[in-house]
Amino acid sequence: MTLPRLAVLISGRGRNLEALCAAIHRGELAAQIVLVISSRADAPGLAVAQRHHIPTAIIEPSHHPNRAAMDTALMQTLDAAQPDLIALAGYMRILTPDFVLRYLGRLFNIHPSLLPKYPGLNTHARALTQGDARHGASVHFVTPELDGGPVVLQGSVAIQTGDTPDTLSERVMYQVERHIYAPVLHWAATGRLRFTDQQQVQLDGTPLHAPLQLYGYMT
Ligand code: GRF
Repeated sequence: MTLPRLAVLISGRGRNLEALCAAIHRGELAAQIVLVISSRADAPGLAVAQRHHIPTAIIEPSHHPNRAAMDTALMQTLDAAQPDLIALAGYMRILTPDFVLRYLGRLFNIHPSLLPKYPGLNTHARALTQGDARHGASVHFVTPELDGGPVVLQGSVAIQTGDTPDTLSERVMYQVERHIYAPVLHWAATGRLRFTDQQQVQLDGTPLHAPLQLYGYMT
């Protein structure tokens, strides 16, 4: 049986990429990562890909005159790899609507906040400034609105006295992020999770009206 083909886009350390590789290794994500694309030549996540013998490509903004040209290069490289699913995993670039619409329904992102709270950057600091009791991360379908597509699964940790953006982001990464991406991609890879033409999310044929929560989700 040929496994669904997954491409992963990164810009940084690649901890989410590592978690996906580990899930595949454990048999929890029925997909093969066929390509990792980084927007930075110095991203430590490239070494993660190499360690797992995954082909890599580097597509950097400085090599392209504008965002549209950059995304065209990205689409050409992606299409050559024929991915069924694409996962943004710490990819720190805003994608053009052309790009997003081309892969609508098979393009996912992981974002470190309890969306719809705190789209964009500096989410950990913003949750602390607001005095939130909990903070977390979300996996969502990507639509042209930044961090605005429907959330499939999210999880949270309690904010503790003395937390800094760094301590909080570490806890969210290790207690939430590393656990929520693989299940969503697995459901998509196995045809259980769908994004309909009406932009409705369905899991096992049932509409998902609210995000699933880690520790409550089905396997
Ligand atoms: C993660 O917190 C991810 O949610 C955010 O950027 C960070 C990337 O970390 N968008 P890594 O590259 O997966 O280590």
